[in-house]
Amino acid sequence: MPSNQAAWLPAQKVRPLEVKTAAYTPPGEKEIVVKNHALGLNPVDWARQDLGDALFSWTKYPCILGSDVAGEVVEVGSGVSRFRVGDRVTGLALELTSNKPSEGAFQAYTVLAAHMASPIPSTLSYEGASVLPLGLSTAACGLFQKAYLALQLPSSPPKPATGETLLVWGGSTSVGSNAIQLAVAAGYEVITTASPRNFVYVKKLGASQAFDYHSEAVVADLITAFKGKTSAGAIAIGEGSGDPCVEVVAKSSGKKFVALANPPSKELPSGIGGKFIFGSDLKDNEVGPAIYVDFLPKALADGSYIAAPDARVVGNGLESIQGGLDLLKKGVSAMKYVISL
Ligand SMILES: NC(=O)c1ccc[n+]([C@@H]2O[C@H](COP(=O)([O-])OP(=O)(O)OC[C@H]3O[C@@H](n4cnc5c(N)ncnc54)[C@H](OP(=O)(O)O)[C@@H]3O)[C@@H](O)[C@H]2O)c1
Repeated sequence: MPSNQAAWLPAQKVRPLEVKTAAYTPPGEKEIVVKNHALGLNPVDWARQDLGDALFSWTKYPCILGSDVAGEVVEVGSGVSRFRVGDRVTGLALELTSNKPSEGAFQAYTVLAAHMASPIPSTLSYEGASVLPLGLSTAACGLFQKAYLALQLPSSPPKPATGETLLVWGGSTSVGSNAIQLAVAAGYEVITTASPRNFVYVKKLGASQAFDYHSEAVVADLITAFKGKTSAGAIAIGEGSGDPCVEVVAKSSGKKFVALANPPSKELPSGIGGKFIFGSDLKDNEVGPAIYVDFLPKALADGSYIAAPDARVVGNGLESIQGGLDLLKKGVSAMKYVISL
């Protein structure tokens, strides 16, 4: 068996992460084991380290954080036919909810659920692919799950236009970069918000219009932009995004629902639906396989889906994860920090 190493969080709020031996865990029937070559860093990773039980009360320690991996399949469970040893893949590591160390990203070998992993084309680097899983999964949870916006599923080539328009608040975030592309591939027009320096970026991903969320007039401008359109609802991404999204959908005709990647500051008004997203919930329903099995492999291979935002490699090796998390805490713009292994 290969020898494994991990960047452990030994107890709540301990820093730095401790790099030491970890068990190598073989795959279960419907799982694969991936030798990680690149790891994406997400805000929830530093938040779990910093906030501990205050927000993540289910976590038992020691644990291995991290959601985003890209690497090479080294072992395949007996019930898996989609993958072979040596395949290049990306996938969502599920430790955030399972709390099993074998399922954390921040180690040399991670056990992935086969239906939450996708092959990646030879043109896409491991670093480039590692930006995808949590951003993609969170966006898909908000857009496609029945208890959320329940949009029709994406396809490549994109579905014919539905005639409906979705508001993606926070289009230049990792989650937003995926929400824009998924919604467009599903046949929806997308109106989004970002800093003006990222307008070209979000339009390249498929948004038809972009508005500056720093502007005092942003809500009024969005309400005007939705005039004459049928709203498919909104996905609210970023601190403080829930309240303005509620205002816009309340004043637009169409679906009155906001999928919330961040919690709202107050109760939703009557007549407006909304629900907080858990970015890994799609593993338990039809949306997970619809994205990771049916949609993503083809869309990445034919170039219709971009692994976005761009990867910025901020370290090499498990020892550099702590530095990467500290950098991420200061904020990024249309960029994902990645560790190569
Ligand atoms: N509920 C879940 O399951 C779940 C899962 C993943 C993430 N999240 C949350 O979703 C948010 C985005 O996560 P991420 O990893 O996608 O973030 P990220 O890519 O690290 O976010 C960076 C981006 O945030 C944008 N931004 C900053 N403040 C904003 C605001 N108030 N409204 C809209 N955009 C803002 C910036 O846009 P500009 O540079 O264009 O200004 C920047 O491009 C975070 O708050 C995260 O905690 C929730």
